[in-house]
Amino acid sequence: MQRYFRLVLFAAVMLVVLAIPVAAVLARTYFLAPTAQPVKAQPIQFPHQVHVQAMGLDCTFCHRGATTSAQATIPALEFCMNCHKVIPWQGRPELEKLVQAFESGQTIQWNKVHQLPDHAHFVHSVHLNFGFQCADCHGDVGSMGKPGVKQVRDLRMGDCLTCHQQNGARTDCSVCHY
Ligand code: HEC
Ligand code: HEC
Ligand code: HEC
Ligand code: HEC
Ligand code: HEC
Repeated sequence: MQRYFRLVLFAAVMLVVLAIPVAAVLARTYFLAPTAQPVKAQPIQFPHQVHVQAMGLDCTFCHRGATTSAQATIPALEFCMNCHKVIPWQGRPELEKLVQAFESGQTIQWNKVHQLPDHAHFVHSVHLNFGFQCADCHGDVGSMGKPGVKQVRDLRMGDCLTCHQQNGARTDCSVCHY
C-alpha cells in the first residue's frame, strides 16, 4: 500500500515538474509562433493593396534587392516621393506624415515584420533565382491593406529545413548559421 502511495506521489510530482517545460514548448509553438503575432503598427500605414492590386506595381519595383542580394530592402522616401509629390496629400494623415518626413529630411523607421535572430541568415536572391515566388513565403501581400503586412508562414528552422529537404537543398548547419 505504502509502495503504491509513493508511486502516485512520485507521478504527481513528475507531472508538475514536467508541466513547466511542456507548457513552455507549447507556448513557443503556438502562442509565440511568428504567425500568431498581431499585425505590427507602422509609422505610416502603408497599403500594399493600393500599390500592388490597384496600381499593378511589381514587388521588386520597390523591394529592389530581392533578386540580387540577401535583403529584399524597403525603398527610401525619395523613391516614394517620385509619385507622391504629385499626389494630393493635404488632409490625408498617412500622406501628410510621408511628405512632412521627406521635407524635414527624416527617415521612416519601419518596424520589422519578419525577423530572424542574428545567428541565422537568409538570402533572398538564392531562393528567387531557384524559382520561388514572394507569395510562397509571404502569402498574398498584394491584398494586405491597412494597417500592414502580416507574417503568414512560420519560417523558423523546422520550416526552412523541411523545404530544403523537399527541394534537395543543403541542410548542414553552416548553410544558415555562421
Ligand atoms: C510601392 C512600394 C511597394 C511595393 C510595390 C511592394 N511593397 Fe512590400 N513594403 C513596402 C513598404 C514601404 C513596406 C514597409 C511597411 C510595412 O511593413 O507595412 C513593405 C513591407 C513589406 C514586407 C514586410 C517586411 C518586413 O518587415 O518583414 C513584405 C514581406 C513585403 N513588403 C512584401 C511585398 C510583396 C510580396 C510585394 C508584391 C506583392 C510588395 N511587398 C510590394 C513597399 C512596397
Ligand atoms: C523562401 C522564402 C522567401 C521568399 C521566396 C521571399 N522571402 Fe522575403 N523574407 C523571407 C525571410 C525568412 C525574411 C526574414 C529575413 C531576415 O530576418 O533576415 C524575409 C524578409 C523580407 C523583407 C524584410 C527584410 C528585407 O529583406 O528587406 C522584405 C521586404 C521581403 N522579405 C520581401 C520579399 C519579396 C518582395 C519577395 C519576392 C520578390 C520575397 N520577400 C521572397 C523569406 C522569403
Ligand atoms: C508608382 C507611384 C507610387 C509610388 C512609388 C508610391 N506610391 Fe503610394 N500611392 C500611389 C497612388 C497612386 C496612391 C493612391 C492615391 C489616391 O488614393 O489618391 C498611393 C497611396 C498611398 C497611401 C495611402 C494614402 C491614403 O490616404 O490612404 C500611402 C500611405 C502611400 N501611398 C505611401 C507610400 C509610400 C510610403 C511609398 C514608398 C515606399 C509609396 N507610397 C510609393 C502611388 C505611389
Ligand atoms: C520554399 C522553400 C524554402 C524555404 C521555405 C526556405 N528555403 Fe532556403 N533554399 C531553398 C532551396 C531550394 C535552396 C537551394 C537553391 C539553389 O541551390 O539554387 C535554398 C538555399 C538557401 C541558402 C543558400 C545555400 C547555399 O548553398 O548558398 C540559404 C542560406 C538558405 N536557403 C536559408 C534559408 C533559411 C534561413 C530559411 C528559413 C528562414 C529558408 N532558407 C527557407 C528552399 C527554401
Ligand atoms: C535551412 C536553414 C537552417 C539550417 C540548415 C539549420 N538551421 Fe538552425 N535555425 C535556423 C533558423 C531560421 C533559426 C531561427 C528561428 C528558430 O528559432 O527556429 C534557427 C535556430 C537555431 C537554434 C536556436 C533555437 C532556439 O530555440 O532559438 C539552434 C540551437 C540551431 N538553429 C541549431 C542548428 C543546428 C545544430 C543545425 C545543423 C544540424 C542547424 N541549426 C541547421 C535555420 C537553420
